[in-house]
Amino acid sequence: MRRVITFGTFDLFHYGHLQILRRAKEIGDFLIVGISSDSLNFSKKGRYPIYTQMERKSIIEACKYVDYVFYEESLELKRQYCLEYKADILVMGDDWTGCFDNLSDICEVIYIPRTPSISTTQIIEKIRI
Ligand code: CTP
Repeated sequence: MRRVITFGTFDLFHYGHLQILRRAKEIGDFLIVGISSDSLNFSKKGRYPIYTQMERKSIIEACKYVDYVFYEESLELKRQYCLEYKADILVMGDDWTGCFDNLSDICEVIYIPRTPSISTTQIIEKIRI
């Protein structure tokens, strides 16, 4: 049983999100997702996500590739989360390439290509215009 963990905000759930969750699940057997909490997003980006953390968590929980969801409360706790959830593999989009190599002593770290031409930020911009 290979346990995979991934992290993200997953606001305005879109095709790129679906693709990374599908690919992450294919890499192992059990997929755990850390959803950035509202307060973590505020401290990171200076704004709250469009959907609340409860809404984002519920949507990700409903995805058939996902087995367990928790709130990521701090970016500094990645190592602790990987240990706590006994992750064998950390999967991140390749916009994060290299950023989590320091965790390779406790789990395999895999960066997978982002789906081109889609992001939450782009969707917000498109709707604004
Ligand atoms: N992701 C992806 N392909 C995309 C968009 C996101 O593979 N086109 C991945 C990211 O690499 C990350 C996860 O989905 O591992 C969650 O990303 P998140 O930051 O929530 O989504 P974005 O759409 O990139 O959001 P934003 O525009 O706010 O940065």
